Amino acid sequence: MWPDLIRKAKEGGLDAVETYVFWNAHEPVRRQYDFSGNLDLVRFLKTIRDEGLYAILRIGPYACAEWNYGGFPMWLHNMPGVSFRTKNDVFMNEMKNFTSLIVDMVKRERLFASQGGHIILAQIENEYGNVMKPYGEDGKSYINWCAQMADSLDIGVPWIMCQQAGAPKPMLETCNGWYCDQYKPKDPNTPKMWTENWTGWFKSWGGADPLRTAEDLAYSVARFFQKGGTLQNYYMYHGGTNFGRTSGGPYMTTTYDYNAPLDEYGNLNQPKWGHLKQLHHVLHSIEYTLTHGDVNTQKIDNSVTATVYETNDNKSSCFLSNTNTTTDANVNFGGINYFIPAWSISILPDCRGEAYNTAKVYAQTSMMIKRSNKAEDEPESLKWAWRPELIESASVHGKGDVFVNKIVDQKDMANDASDYLWYMTSVVLAKDDPMLNGTVTLRVADTGHVLHVFVNGKYIDSQWAKYGNNVAYVFEKNIKLSPGKNLISLLSVTVGFKNYEAKFDLVGAGIASPVELVLNMRNQTFVKDLSSNKWTYKIGLDGISNKFFNTDCASKPSSKWVSDQVPINRNFTWYKTTFKAPLGNKPVVVDLLGLGKGMAWVNGHSLGRYWPSYIADKKLCKTKPCDYRGRYSDKKCLSKCGEPTQRWYHVPRSFLNDGENTLILFEEFGGNPSWVQFQTVEVGSVCVNAYEGKVVELSCHNRPISKIEFASFGHPQGVCGSFKKSECESDVDAISILEKECVGKESCSFKISEDKFGKAYCEAKRLAVEAVCEDFTF
Ligand code: GAL
Repeated sequence: MWPDLIRKAKEGGLDAVETYVFWNAHEPVRRQYDFSGNLDLVRFLKTIRDEGLYAILRIGPYACAEWNYGGFPMWLHNMPGVSFRTKNDVFMNEMKNFTSLIVDMVKRERLFASQGGHIILAQIENEYGNVMKPYGEDGKSYINWCAQMADSLDIGVPWIMCQQAGAPKPMLETCNGWYCDQYKPKDPNTPKMWTENWTGWFKSWGGADPLRTAEDLAYSVARFFQKGGTLQNYYMYHGGTNFGRTSGGPYMTTTYDYNAPLDEYGNLNQPKWGHLKQLHHVLHSIEYTLTHGDVNTQKIDNSVTATVYETNDNKSSCFLSNTNTTTDANVNFGGINYFIPAWSISILPDCRGEAYNTAKVYAQTSMMIKRSNKAEDEPESLKWAWRPELIESASVHGKGDVFVNKIVDQKDMANDASDYLWYMTSVVLAKDDPMLNGTVTLRVADTGHVLHVFVNGKYIDSQWAKYGNNVAYVFEKNIKLSPGKNLISLLSVTVGFKNYEAKFDLVGAGIASPVELVLNMRNQTFVKDLSSNKWTYKIGLDGISNKFFNTDCASKPSSKWVSDQVPINRNFTWYKTTFKAPLGNKPVVVDLLGLGKGMAWVNGHSLGRYWPSYIADKKLCKTKPCDYRGRYSDKKCLSKCGEPTQRWYHVPRSFLNDGENTLILFEEFGGNPSWVQFQTVEVGSVCVNAYEGKVVELSCHNRPISKIEFASFGHPQGVCGSFKKSECESDVDAISILEKECVGKESCSFKISEDKFGKAYCEAKRLAVEAVCEDFTF
């Protein structure tokens, strides 16, 4: 997908691509490196270069990015004497080793700008300033060391440290956030740079869909440049998918769509992409005045301010900003009247005409739809085979590989080799043990995230962390014990390790002490603490270790997949089906509605964790309609509450073959695979809603426009998908004009004028159009 994504970024008016480098992806085992396939960093950087863009390399190597463990490899956590992100020799040696490795690799290819390449900036650490305090003096020494170490690598382009006020020289500090216009670097000689303008937000299991409006995002960018900004980067411009087990924690979803300008599948997220493209075009056009001009600010009225950039050779560009969150403004500036909606900024490239206003969106809105797989005759009824996960050796026989007389944190025991870890112990009861008569509760302290409990081979129950920041909980359930030996088998499942906060690397995972049996008898409570019992551990699941998900293994006749009586709602179950790839080249998703939680693979490639049964909390979505005005936060404009947090899972075309493809699911909770469907994601219809005088474009992205569903010039009401006419409408038939102009074409562009659409007798006339894109496979 790289060349296509990078081309779309360039077409969207970007100058550079910023990327993290994930240490745990490239050094999964100490001193064993992986730069193959999708991990080929140099190839990625060269693709950026070959498309004519600059690059910003955020080596970190601590990254965050809602990525598993913030990008740290788990082996590092398990090194004796290590302490993360502080003055600690073990950590600093490893960090230096990886950072130098990346720098050397890039230097060898001569990719730094100082070598004639396209990398203009590099980053060390990540937002350490936000969390530095708890690390005390050692934290200060550490960040100074980071600066010296980075500087010693002699890359010839500046190093940056984001969210690091007063960064040690020669590091340059930068800002991250939804807004950075108020930000001032401590050193006045440091240019005002913004490394992360959050275009939306991420999602956790149980969370709702984020939306940061195009108007507000454009406002934040224009305001930043109005207030002297020099470099602004979108985080994310394309967030994509966290395949495999790369999602961080607690509880990050597999999708990392982020409501970014390019969506998870690489489609243009319109109108955001197009509205920003127009902004970039205008900003580029005033680059000379912005970089050479003197700045002057004038207050025009209570909410509107004019900022004038003027050069010695009398060239000037202006910004008119209305920071009021509710009141629109009509102002006169330089003898000309301007309408500046609340919470918006107009850019006047020559200080006279308005070329852009952040709240006036003329870019088209694209409504994406999902279509079922036409390569299949009966796409809804895939034929399934199944096999059980063999849990009995752990749940019934308590067999494992490691024995310790205490409860061990999952990070320390499983070394991130798997999400799954069995904790097993036994309790021997004499025939006259009171536990055999009273009510016994098994109580397990859990630091996250999912727990399945078995006693003497019998499944008792499961519990998982609730949506939110605190993922710790206590499992409590009454159990029945027998005389003699009783086996307690606890299957603990992690869903991504923590990635942010001071000392996040030490936050517990899996089962914590105590694990107790609580006996209630005759109003008295007796507690038996099992924490220092002999515990047996088994890392991973049988089917995952034996690679049931590999197509080779899946198709072997001996591999015991059964096609009869495919069970539903059975936990710890493997499902397999084959399918034909959807025709054409549109992005493919698999709809996993009906399933519980687990992992999915297509042709042996992991699609990541799935969890469609986790429903987004109803309380998260406010009933108020989404208003672009006022500061955005991750609590604002949420949608899809009461629906699965993530129902569709991306299947990149590169995972698919022309012939037969195999989907394998490991279902942990129990679910029904019969609704599973492969679909394509494409533009269903496109809309424009713009004022008279504007030139607008409708485009079905390489497919013909098949129909004009709605068109009205005057005062049409509503939004894309539900436009309505109003009393003020021209009597010229706008639909037939646009049918002639657009139908059968992939895109059409026209000016909204009375000449074209006739007279309408109202103020501020607009044209609203909805066009349908052809259902077309190739
Ligand atoms: C920042 C961090 C990014 C990402 C972002 C939220 O704090 O630097 O890596 O985690 O927050 O998406």
